[in-house]
Amino acid sequence: MPDLVAVIMAAGKGTRMRSKLPKVMHSLAGKPLIEHVLDVANQVGIERPFVIVGHGREAVAAKVQERAEIVVQTEQMGTGHAIMQALPYLEGAQTVLVLSGDQPLLKPESLQALLKLHQDGEACATVLTAYLDQPFGYGRVLKDGDQLVRIVEEKDATSDERLIKEINTGTYCFRGSALKDALAKITSKNAQGEYYLTDVFDIFLKQGERILTYCTEDSHEALGINSRSQLAEAERILRERNLEHWMAEGVTIVDPASTFIDIDVRLSQDVTILPFTRLLGNTKVQEDAVIGPQTTLENCEVGSGSEVTYTVAKNATIGVRCHIGPFAYLRPGTSLEADVKVGDFVEIKNSKIEAGAKVPHLSYIGDAQIGKSANIGAGTITCNYDGSSKHPTRIGDHTFIGSNTNLVAPVEVGDYAVTGAGSTITKNVPAEALAVERSQQIIKEQWQREKRNRGQK
Ligand code: UD1
Ligand code: CA
Repeated sequence: MPDLVAVIMAAGKGTRMRSKLPKVMHSLAGKPLIEHVLDVANQVGIERPFVIVGHGREAVAAKVQERAEIVVQTEQMGTGHAIMQALPYLEGAQTVLVLSGDQPLLKPESLQALLKLHQDGEACATVLTAYLDQPFGYGRVLKDGDQLVRIVEEKDATSDERLIKEINTGTYCFRGSALKDALAKITSKNAQGEYYLTDVFDIFLKQGERILTYCTEDSHEALGINSRSQLAEAERILRERNLEHWMAEGVTIVDPASTFIDIDVRLSQDVTILPFTRLLGNTKVQEDAVIGPQTTLENCEVGSGSEVTYTVAKNATIGVRCHIGPFAYLRPGTSLEADVKVGDFVEIKNSKIEAGAKVPHLSYIGDAQIGKSANIGAGTITCNYDGSSKHPTRIGDHTFIGSNTNLVAPVEVGDYAVTGAGSTITKNVPAEALAVERSQQIIKEQWQREKRNRGQK
């Protein structure tokens, strides 16, 4: 048993969310609330916290089991009851850090400071508190001078107590053995009929134990998500924090108000993000790339110096110095090497496009491989689907595919081959060959004049 263990409470239903999804599974800046809390635990050096699951436990457990130990709380009888479920796993732990799964804005710096104060101060318990102008709904911290006396829940508080602005964030450090003993003594005699974890402080105090509080400077950290409105508020705060972070790292964000960057996105120095752009999931953008305006990239990689404008892309890789858009749609499995151009109204799916190739206008490329420096004419379509299955198209290096070519897959066009505009290619084209498939043009001389003359008779 390590000296320091963490328990994250995540079993509550989140009634106020009015959702079929368990509260901690709601998404914030691209990932569930619970994952934000796991991240902060990892950042203070706790590799595998315990997560208490209950409501919607299959979904929550499935999401976190790779990085946490699961503890089940079958019936949700309060935060004190939640921690009781974890006690058998905490045996022998010197320090128990308790976190709430609905408190995603907590910063690792604050958690580190809380732990340090707790350890240096040889406290029995240390509570992370915050001052809120509008403390409604939170447990209030009652103090005698600097000394915490009690934490009282909104629903149990007197009107005087409700005026107190120092609140309990729901994040604490405990001496493991003392926590276990105190939890055995708490009751559910309160307004909500629940076992409150916060009742252990009263017991500690009576035992003459040392209780400390650490107040965060950034009161946003205290935000516990109980409603959709608080979820939106957290999104706004985290977004601002994240945009400030990237600007400080050397990213130009022309209009922060219309830029949305998920928390796991990675950007390099001198990236420029133009207005109305969303970078989602695990998107990575390398140096000097310019993204936007009006672009959504989800789980994409963009190489340095590329420009991606008015584009939607998902699970796609874009190499260095590529030009994408305006109005391109890159679907999963798209992989573009260096110096590729994908122009307007082009859709690409599950295809590899090699260095220097161009698909400049109005094309559908699916299940294809396009060789180096190939030029794909306007309106080229890979006919990859025969109504029951998908087939591949292989287009060689330095090929020239004439405008409006249909490539009926499976089919291959060899290196340096050319297809005539308007051809429907159903057979493989050898390297260096020209393939034309179109009926002969007929000219009827004077046809229009004769028609007019007939009309005059
Ligand atoms: C709790 C605190 C309150 C504090 C606030 C901070 C108590 C009694 N109150 O109130 O002082 O100001 O957090 O946000 O602790 N949970 C379980 N099992 C349960 C009940 C809750 O795992 O039986 C989990 C929830 O999923 C949630 C967390 O514990 O992640 C907090 O529970 P919640 O019901 O939101 O507590 P609050 O009323 O917000
Ligand atoms: Ca809460």
